Amino acid sequence: TAHGTAVHPEPVTLPVTRTPGCPFDPPAELAELREQQPLRPMRYPDGHVGWLATGHSVVRAIAADPRFSSRYELLRYPLPGGPSGSLPPAPLGDLTGIDAPEHTRYRRLLAGKFTVRRMRQLATRVEQITADHLDAMERQGPVADLVQAFAHPVPALMICELLGVSPSDRARFQEHTAMLSSPDAAPEEQMAAMTALAECVRELVVAKRAHPTDDLLSDLTTSDLTDDELAGIGGFLLAAGLDTTANMLALGAFALLSHPAQAAALRGDPGLADQAVEELLRYLTITHTGLRAALEDVELDGQLIKAGDTVAVSVQAANRDPLKFPDPDTLDLRRKATGHLAFGHGAHQCLGQQLARVEMRVAFPALFRRFPTLRLAVPPEDVPLRDAMNIYGVHRLPVTWDKE
Ligand code: HEM
Repeated sequence: TAHGTAVHPEPVTLPVTRTPGCPFDPPAELAELREQQPLRPMRYPDGHVGWLATGHSVVRAIAADPRFSSRYELLRYPLPGGPSGSLPPAPLGDLTGIDAPEHTRYRRLLAGKFTVRRMRQLATRVEQITADHLDAMERQGPVADLVQAFAHPVPALMICELLGVSPSDRARFQEHTAMLSSPDAAPEEQMAAMTALAECVRELVVAKRAHPTDDLLSDLTTSDLTDDELAGIGGFLLAAGLDTTANMLALGAFALLSHPAQAAALRGDPGLADQAVEELLRYLTITHTGLRAALEDVELDGQLIKAGDTVAVSVQAANRDPLKFPDPDTLDLRRKATGHLAFGHGAHQCLGQQLARVEMRVAFPALFRRFPTLRLAVPPEDVPLRDAMNIYGVHRLPVTWDKE
């Protein structure tokens, strides 16, 4: 305006519709909104008028600012069809839905257990687990659902390694986690699997207290955490580390199959894996949107965010911001994608990111080297997408290859 104050655009709703045929790109509308004004009012489905952040620098600033809360009970859900009003508070052990000082206590305890030594240990296990699953896929195919054969079981077993689930209990764990993410499971079956899994974790805590082994959960039993807290944390780690990594692997494979020159580059140059994983994280940003609530009035980007307002932080828009990443809509495994926000930023930045990286750096090159002729077994438009879910990805990825 003439006085140099920020314009106050009409509230928008959160764009969710992707361009047909572009399964890897955010809704085109998000890019327009980011260009107009990287922080702007947004109307939530329950009528609340809060905010939408789409620019890389403002998204990063909000994630790092303690004046913004993560407490679920202060947040409004941004997608239609969700709960109305504010969300239920975080269950015990769920770190993403609480603030300091409770959050800081859990975070310190946990961060001390994701040690370099443990991550190295897990790196050798992921090579074995990856090779085993590729062997099985090769024996049983061609034609496989990459989600069931590879992308889901590999991270599921890695979480079992992390938590110290004994080999004899793994089948039980895997049966329940597979049911949880099965696109064919009925809601009652999923609820039952959730209850059974919580029971498994609780039994595991009791077992580790009695007979500690060399794993993260056993380590945590020496802290002052109660059994309830430990069971909550165990269940939360399972949930936080499984669907995320599984969907990165499956959607990442889909993206590489859709960009054959990039897949060839990765196959030919094992040294490219670290960079490739960062670029896939940026390009795919499977956790599309984060949520925060202002604890006090905050002035940001020339706008006044009032205490109590919910802010939707569009991580997928931020990771395609041309001011941060030149030519952002191109998948380029050789680019320096550092600074992407796919693991979040600030106090809640992903605790499992080193583990997730270890898994992806091994899994992608191994998959594409084992099957040099890997391709989709269906037209790309027939791959079922996890639309409007908290974690984006694919429900199934039918693939095929030439037998030697
Ligand atoms: C938090 C993404 C894998 C454990 C987060 C957050 C994101 C994220 C975006 C921040 C949420 C927020 O700001 O509210 C991912 C992605 C993964 C992945 C994309 C895979 C590619 C894992 C794994 C584990 C894990 C393997 C553990 C085994 C956690 C935990 C938090 C978290 C404990 C909560 C941290 C806190 O609130 O202090 N993750 N994650 N994640 N993640 Fe991950």
